[in-house]
Amino acid sequence: MTDKYAVIGNPVAHSKSPSIHKMFAQQTGQDISYEAVLAPLDGFAAKVEELRNAGYRGCNVTVPFKQSAYQLPDRKRYLSYDVVHAHAANTLEFKSDGLHLHNTDGVGLTRDIQENCGVPLRGKRVLLMGAGGAAMGVLSPLRDAGANITVANRTVDKAIILAERFVVSSCSYDDLAGKQFDIIINATSSGLSNEMPDIPKTVFATGALAYEMMYGRETPFMKFAREHGAVVSDGLGMLVEQAAESFFIWRSVRPDTAPVIEVLRDQR
Ligand code: ATR
Repeated sequence: MTDKYAVIGNPVAHSKSPSIHKMFAQQTGQDISYEAVLAPLDGFAAKVEELRNAGYRGCNVTVPFKQSAYQLPDRKRYLSYDVVHAHAANTLEFKSDGLHLHNTDGVGLTRDIQENCGVPLRGKRVLLMGAGGAAMGVLSPLRDAGANITVANRTVDKAIILAERFVVSSCSYDDLAGKQFDIIINATSSGLSNEMPDIPKTVFATGALAYEMMYGRETPFMKFAREHGAVVSDGLGMLVEQAAESFFIWRSVRPDTAPVIEVLRDQR
């Protein structure tokens, strides 16, 4: 019997997750279906319940519901380590003993940086820009991979709070003058408004990797980083890697991500 999965979001029509999971299923011979499901902004929990009652085996959660997923009022809730740290979930499993929550965003990012971009994180100076949900979702896997992290944010108080929680350093963008990093990650939403954090051009160490967590277009941060000598990556690989981790959680089979990333790149 075909096992049903979905991604819940709002908006969700643009999501690449259905085509990614279909490619994974084809590649691994898994009999699953996967669709995009729109939930009303005030109706996330009800939509999850609806899918569970309809026999779905699990779902992914995307913007703006990842924090709501963490707060689902389920009596039998099992939170993974990454969910506890991120205060957000992007992968739900509906199991007979209850609701299992996972967050695969962080592992998606660390795998993309280390395996696809070929940059080991251990001992590297990492600048994480942003202190919202996206930054919080990736901090503990980055730290656990051995990176030496500094969180910087426009509203510096938020960076300080986040850094204290994860026992890493923090600073303002102005404080970055004279400092250099090996990996600079943009976890802000600035690209959406065609802006970028106000960082000095000197932050890029020789051969630095500039990583934009968004995907789909060249953001001002990517352009700036390229102009100042960095190797640039967008978040497409992270998207596929976090999906692969969800697929593994659900199906206990690890798909090969490289051909899927290639197909998505070619579709642009
Ligand atoms: P997300 O879930 O995408 O992280 P969020 O929680 O609203 O969204 O956080 C957005 C992040 O992007 C914040 O760190 C925000 O900085 P502030 O905390 O100072 O608001 C950052 N951000 C958004 N637009 C930005 C811009 N133009 N320049 C710099 N940082 C920006």
